[in-house]
Order: sequence, then structure tokens, then C-alpha cells
Amino acid sequence: MKKILVTGGTGYIGSHTVVALQQKGYEVVVLDNLSNSEYGVLDGIERITGVRPTFENVDLRDKERTAEVFQSHTDIKAVIHFAASKAVGESVGMPLEYYENNIGGMLNLLSAMRTYKVPNIVFSSSCTVYGQPKQLPVTEEEPVKPALSPYGNTKQIGEEILRDTVKAHPGLKAISLRYFNPVGAHESALIGELPKGVPLNLLPFITQTAIGLREQLKVYGKDYNTVDGTCVRDYIHVVDLANAHIIAAERMLDHNGEDAYEYFNLGTGTGSSVLQVIQAFEKVSGQALNYVFVERRAGDVEQIWADTQRANEVLGWKAEKGLEEMVRTAWLWEQHVRKQVHTV
Ligand code: NAD
Ligand code: WQD
Repeated sequence: MKKILVTGGTGYIGSHTVVALQQKGYEVVVLDNLSNSEYGVLDGIERITGVRPTFENVDLRDKERTAEVFQSHTDIKAVIHFAASKAVGESVGMPLEYYENNIGGMLNLLSAMRTYKVPNIVFSSSCTVYGQPKQLPVTEEEPVKPALSPYGNTKQIGEEILRDTVKAHPGLKAISLRYFNPVGAHESALIGELPKGVPLNLLPFITQTAIGLREQLKVYGKDYNTVDGTCVRDYIHVVDLANAHIIAAERMLDHNGEDAYEYFNLGTGTGSSVLQVIQAFEKVSGQALNYVFVERRAGDVEQIWADTQRANEVLGWKAEKGLEEMVRTAWLWEQHVRKQVHTV
């Protein structure tokens, strides 16, 4: 059984990937400092898969402890690296903390991988590297723009660090996956997105409004040059996203890659406006959502969706779940979470 280390494995996308890995028979070691996730996520993973992954409560900023994880698990074949801070707005006010966590943590991880000769890494990148692209759908050939935020910059720099490192160290391979907008939850509703405080992202705000935790959704802007005046994004189901990580890891494990460093867009290839997401939610939940139009949010790109041809053809991966499935599972998860809160 091949052993895979998942950093950030109790987080939103990480936990779904751990489930998918275990269901495919991989042995998983989760490394997380629980700064943005809960220990109880491991219970959800265990209930879905019947297996509790090994858990290392380690902060990647701690170089020694990070190295110790590799020392005690000598046979790790690949790392899937999710651990990072991800709040775009927060990063503007805390650039040093973001660079320290996202870049410092990654450097410690790569250094330990080199010492312990672990040859493969999958990296969580983001469509934020494109800013507002000139051409839609956006391909991987679109130039990376000057970052709109320190957070976005950590993704660009992270990709550059990987490119330079694989060049210098033959034997090391890396794949960056540029996610568009991950949403939804596992069908079981036993794991999902758990934002701390007031959610900044659209879908958790919608479901928290519908459940009565927030009064009203603010829709940021209605005068964009889009289908209905609201911003357009490429929402992608987190389970589809999780599966892509396994394919990427296997591509390196099976030596199928053409280059030591590769990068792929992960989206559905379809854009949805904010109003279309709201309509899909109202349809699957059977309830009207309380929302109001307000001013544009500073820094929002008007519209972006992915050209997924490279991921489709080279990885052989394609998103299977549509918008209704995304909002349906997000809503199931929200109801599950609130039930837990009320019964504790
Ligand atoms: P998340 O916050 O749910 O998961 C990240 C996990 O990393 C958390 O469990 C957190 O506790 C852990 N972590 C953070 N810093 C750490 C450190 N120094 N040491 C150990 N653990 C640490 O976020 P997510 O939505 O699952 O995102 C996963 C990755 O995907 C991140 O790198 C994020 O930047 C990237 N990404 C996310 C989105 C999105 O919209 N969710 C989009 C594009 C890219
Ligand atoms: C989606 C749409 C909002 C909240 C962010 C990061 C990006 C990436 C994905 C990590 C936008 C609108 C939202 C609300 C709204 N993350 N909206 N009311 O902005 O595409 O991307 O997450 O890499 O880097 O910037 O996602 O979910 O915040 O917004 O009207 O209360 O919903 O204006 O059009 P975004 P989002």
C-alpha cells in the first residue's frame, strides 16, 4: 500500500482528498496544525472510509518537526500539499504572516522532502494567478499577472519555487493544480467546508443565510459586463477536485509525466453568475434566499472560467458534477453542521 502525506489534510479540500485516497487503497498520513480546521474532521473521514488516517499535529513553519514526520514515516511516496492560509482580504493586512506560513512552510516541506528523498509533490495553486484574463476561457498559456494580493502572490511564488527546485534536483517532480472555485461537500454530509467566523466566499454565505445564521446575502455588484450583471466564476465540486489530486499523484508515481514540472487548470469549463448560483440554490433547497444588491467588492475580477482541455487530455480528468449537485451537497452539509451544533 503506497503511503501519501497530505498537508492540510483536515482542511476543506484536503479532507475530501484523504477520503478519495483511502477509498483507492492508499495509506495516508495527515499533517495539519489545526489552525483552520477541527480534529473532529478525522472522525468524518473514518466514518466514510472505515479507516482513520495517521495524524501528525505539526506546523509546517516548524522545520524540525516537519522533518521528523518524514523521519518517522520513511516510505512516503508523494506529498499532496494543501496547508496554507487562504483568506485573500486578510492577507492584504498581514503579508508577512502569509509569506511566512505559505512560503516558509513550503520551503520547510521541500527541504524535508529533499533530505528524505521523497520525489513527488502536488501543489494547491489557484486561478487567482490569472487575475482578470484577456481571453476566456482561460488556458494555462495565459500569462500570470502581477498578484492582486499577498495571498495570490504566495501561489505564484509557490509555483516558481517548484519550477526552480525540480530543475535543480533531478528526481523531484511537481504538479501545480490551479483550482477555480471549489464548492460543495461529500455526499455523506460527514465532511465539508467549515469557515471560521463570517464566511467570505459565496456558497457558505448562501447556505448560512438560508439556515438563519446570517440575515441576508449581499450580492457585490449588478452592473458588470456579464450575462446578468453579476460576476461569473467557474465553480467546481470539491469531490471532482479531490479526484484530480489522485490522478496527478499517480501520474508522477507511474512516471507518466512529460516534464518534471507541470501545471493544470481544474474547473468545469463553465461559468456561472452569482444570480445563477442563487437560483440553483433556491431550486434545490425549495426556499427563497434573502439577498440584496450592494456595491462591487474591491478586487473582484469580473468573470473567469477555465479552459480544461489540458487537464482533460493530459491527465484524463474531467469534472463530472454540475452546479445543482454542488449546491445540493453544500446545503446538505450546512444542515448537518447546524444539527451537530444544536445537539452538542
Ligand atoms: P483550509 O483552510 O480548509 O485547509 C488548509 C489546511 O491547512 C487547514 O486545515 C489548516 O489548519 C492547515 N494549515 C494552514 N497552515 C498550516 C501550517 N503552517 N502547518 C500545518 N497546517 C497548516 O483550505 P482549503 O480551502 O482546503 O484550501 C486548501 C489549499 O487550496 C490551500 O493551499 C488554498 O490556498 C488552496 N486553494 C483553495 C481555494 C478555495 O477556494 N478553497 C481555491 C484555490 C486554492
Ligand atoms: C464568488 C463571487 C463575489 C460573497 C476567492 C479567492 C480566490 C480563490 C477562490 C483561493 C464573486 C460574489 C461573494 C458574498 C457575493 N481562492 N460574492 N457575496 O472571489 O472568486 O475567489 O476564492 O485561491 O483566490 O479570491 O470567490 O466565493 O469570494 O466570490 O456577491 O457574500 O460571489 O463578488 O463574484 P472569488 P468568492
